[in-house]
Amino acid sequence: MANATFWDKAAQKYAASKIADMGGYEETLDRTRRFLGPEDHLLEIGCGTGSTALKLAPSVGQLTATDISGEMLAIANEKLRATDLANLHFVQSEATKPIEGGPFDAICAFSLLHLLDDLDAGLAHFHSLLKPDGMLITKTACLRDMSVAMAPLIKVMQWLGKAPDVIIFTAPQLEAAFEKAGFELVETGYHGKTKSTRFIAARRK
Ligand SMILES: C[S@@+](CC[C@H](N)C(=O)[O-])C[C@H]1O[C@@H](n2cnc3c(N)ncnc32)[C@H](O)[C@@H]1O
Repeated sequence: MANATFWDKAAQKYAASKIADMGGYEETLDRTRRFLGPEDHLLEIGCGTGSTALKLAPSVGQLTATDISGEMLAIANEKLRATDLANLHFVQSEATKPIEGGPFDAICAFSLLHLLDDLDAGLAHFHSLLKPDGMLITKTACLRDMSVAMAPLIKVMQWLGKAPDVIIFTAPQLEAAFEKAGFELVETGYHGKTKSTRFIAARRK
């Protein structure tokens, strides 16, 4: 769990940070809910401190939310204890490792795909965790669509220990990877102010 150390150290600061674009976040939640049903078992991968899982849990039958970082999940569990949600549980797991409870009706991964070691292998794994016609709902930073200064800046940040390993791709490259992994794109777009963080909802073929 190499990346876990980076995210464990980042957890408290991440929990304290405010959502930069609340309108965009709410739109993503609304669009995501349209693909969920009250009986669904939803898997959220890379759930961080659990804020999104807590908001989505009332829309599904069961929600298993996973993250590589024990520190992120400690914060998530603290938040969960302050609610009466009985259908949500958090599990420490690396995104591409087997996970109990599947096959799932839907998978969510927000701000996660660019952090995987291997995008194609990750998407193929998520495909294998879904029921036929199951939905993969994601929002992903497409770093190649940002300023040309972004890639060198990330290198410097990584050297300083302030950025994790990332995969750099454009939105069309990301969408092509979904199709290659056996997904049909159902809805794509941008929410809120950013035009480099791509929302993709895709169905397992
Ligand atoms: C940028 S944060 C996003 C958290 C949350 N999804 C959100 O939208 O606020 C990325 C999260 O992914 C987790 N993560 C990074 N690499 C991972 C991996 N390979 N497997 C599982 N979780 C991972 C980190 O621990 C962190 O909590």
